[in-house]
Amino acid sequence: MTDGFGDQDWWQTLYDDIVADLFLSRQDSGQTARFLIHTLGLEPGATVFDQCCGTGTISLPMAATGVRVVGVDQCEEYVRRANEAAAGQKCGADFFPGDAFAFMAPNPCDGGFNWNTGFGNDSDDGRNREMLGRAFDSLLPGGRFALDYQHVARLLRDFQHALTYRLSRPDGEVLLIRESEPDLPAGLLKQVWTFVLPDGTRRVRRSVVRLYLPADLARLLRSVGFTDVTFLGGIDSQPLTLNSPRCIAVARRPT
Ligand SMILES: C[S@@+](CC[C@H](N)C(=O)[O-])C[C@H]1O[C@@H](n2cnc3c(N)ncnc32)[C@H](O)[C@@H]1O
Repeated sequence: MTDGFGDQDWWQTLYDDIVADLFLSRQDSGQTARFLIHTLGLEPGATVFDQCCGTGTISLPMAATGVRVVGVDQCEEYVRRANEAAAGQKCGADFFPGDAFAFMAPNPCDGGFNWNTGFGNDSDDGRNREMLGRAFDSLLPGGRFALDYQHVARLLRDFQHALTYRLSRPDGEVLLIRESEPDLPAGLLKQVWTFVLPDGTRRVRRSVVRLYLPADLARLLRSVGFTDVTFLGGIDSQPLTLNSPRCIAVARRPT
């Protein structure tokens, strides 16, 4: 690319403590955990694979119910935070630093999930497919996988070119201006993240993600072996519609 959106693995530099504090601590993690336990059919003592786990915000409440968690994330600091929280919670959760394009759970799990845009980050479909392949490989036969992805149809319909976010810290306020532009011929969403730190320093990051519609996700999931692909529109299990808050694909590894 020649527009400043290089082909490097942008996720290796975007995800830091500011992004975690702005986007990964949330109110609905308990409800999301209950939704996943129900949707994946997990009993206490079952194992679940959290692919692109971040700081473990979703899987730690699952572990608190007796589900055993294995997570992976490429950001070592997020993994450290997740393991520290797991130790404090005294629950069965192990989080590993690693590349989700390659990492497989050490032992096959009863269920798995990739939540909140950990997927679709490479411009190359073949590479994104590899991540789904590692989720498939991490499951026991019959295990279900939930993929929470951007609701692309709604995102494009309600497109917002710039959003601002503010984070209060002891040393002052961090301002984030996120500018977005769809590249429709390429099926990409290009974003420029400008962070203004409390001392006035500006830090700029760029990201590029694929814009997959539900049918594209279903095709990719089936191409790595998943079957029974269905969609939900939210953690209250509502159907997927143009207005639903999320786009969640649920698929099964055949027995
Ligand atoms: C938006 S965050 C979501 C984190 C977590 N699933 C949650 O919902 O709180 C996306 C995460 O994907 C991770 N990620 C992106 N690409 C990855 C890769 N190739 N391998 C491992 N982790 C990756 C990032 O480090 C980040 O923590």
